[in-house]
Amino acid sequence: MSEVKQEKGTSLKDLGLKELDLQDIEMGDMLYEGKAKKMFRTKDEKQLVVVYKDDATAFNGEKKGTIMGKGQVNCEMSALLFRYLEASGIPTHLIASLTPGQMLVKAVTILPVEVIVRNIATGSLSKRLGAEEGKVLPHPILEFCYKNDALGDPLVNDDHITALGWATKEQLAVIRTMALRVNELLQPVMLKAGLRLVDFKLEFGLYGGEVILADEISPDTCRLWDTTTGKKLDKDRFRQDLGQVEEAYEEVLKRLRQAVVVER
Ligand code: TMP
Ligand code: ASP
Repeated sequence: MSEVKQEKGTSLKDLGLKELDLQDIEMGDMLYEGKAKKMFRTKDEKQLVVVYKDDATAFNGEKKGTIMGKGQVNCEMSALLFRYLEASGIPTHLIASLTPGQMLVKAVTILPVEVIVRNIATGSLSKRLGAEEGKVLPHPILEFCYKNDALGDPLVNDDHITALGWATKEQLAVIRTMALRVNELLQPVMLKAGLRLVDFKLEFGLYGGEVILADEISPDTCRLWDTTTGKKLDKDRFRQDLGQVEEAYEEVLKRLRQAVVVER
């Protein structure tokens, strides 16, 4: 049983879900365990509980560690941003926040495509293409990767996605539009929090035939640099052994609690 708080700005009726007695949510069997999250069934097959873990991996699971408190930070930050995006017209999988580190979500079928949006050159873009580290891009770059750990999540293009059946042309068009819109919506909020949204990764799922935003938005999946000092406040601190990892995650959440205002 979880202590629960229904999200402001999400009406269950609007979401096409029956009225929920949130006190009634009980976790059933574990459906799936990923590197950063576990998914559990509920009594309603259309709803799952996500439990965010403190486990951290990098370089396709080669580097392993623990970031204390990360699960709770990533869960709260994702819930804050999903609520804000939902209120701004982006459909997401969030239904409600449960106890810290847990959220109730719509049971989507995840599309096996990771969508990366870049505003500033760094990371694999600089490594692969020699783009000058820290260069502000004249327009965002959208990249797609095939979500497959065994293959190391390789970079793919639109033709791979449609020809290999990971998404239809129409779904891909929706994904592209939504990812760029998410970028437009997140950038001002991050700036208000004193953060540059350098790049980030999104995942989408199908729910009742519709494409909706799923997974998480957190310092695990975004690069966030302090606007004044340039300090990295994201998972690169873990990837590159920069220290103060937990502090960076806490700092981002603290700033976003102030910066994100969800209008009803
Ligand atoms: P990259 O520069 O390493 O390709 O990363 C681009 C963005 O995607 C960055 O914000 C981190 C995020 N990301 C993930 O969320 N998961 C991953 O497995 C990888 C490689 C990157
Ligand atoms: N999440 C990925 C992994 O472990 C990589 C990363 O975030 O750097 O393997």
